[in-house]
Amino acid sequence: MFSLILYEPEIPPNTGNIIRLCANTGVHLHLVEPMGFELDEPRLKRAGLDYREFARVKTHASLEDCLSSLSGPRLFTLSTRASTRHDAPDFRKDDAFLFGPETRGLPQEVLESVPPDQRLRLPMRAGSRSLNLSNTAAVVVYEAWRQLGFEGGG
Ligand SMILES: C[S@@+](CC[C@H](N)C(=O)[O-])C[C@H]1O[C@@H](n2cnc3c(N)ncnc32)[C@H](O)[C@@H]1O
Repeated sequence: MFSLILYEPEIPPNTGNIIRLCANTGVHLHLVEPMGFELDEPRLKRAGLDYREFARVKTHASLEDCLSSLSGPRLFTLSTRASTRHDAPDFRKDDAFLFGPETRGLPQEVLESVPPDQRLRLPMRAGSRSLNLSNTAAVVVYEAWRQLGFEGGG
């Protein structure tokens, strides 16, 4: 199944929502440090997550460590500064999706480390700044999974 990577996430409830999203869809979740919280943070626990959901989450000291643990997947970066629409690619089940931190977004060099057709953007109305991180993750995961016929889901 897909891998979802949060680069230096800052806000516990967003990561909590994404842990639950991944647990419910079979997506592997990777967190790249430093993070703005600890994984035993009460606000994550209050999201009602149980140990099985936490057990699936892996943390990494750097993005390089994370990507090498995944054996070089096809990587998509998600940014308001990207120009390829999020539903344009034909997704494959070993694809990985990289999201930026809430207040900063992805560093430009990380965004541009993949070809332009792998830099994805969700459409927004003119003048909008950005979507919530966990909402963005949910839209992308469900579009990619839809393309696979919701394999394994019911
Ligand atoms: C709150 S946003 C960060 C805002 C930051 N000022 C920026 O422009 O990237 C957090 C993350 O959600 C994702 N995101 C939010 N809106 C998006 C959109 N319309 N298209 C693609 N990714 C988006 C990106 O991964 C972004 O780094």
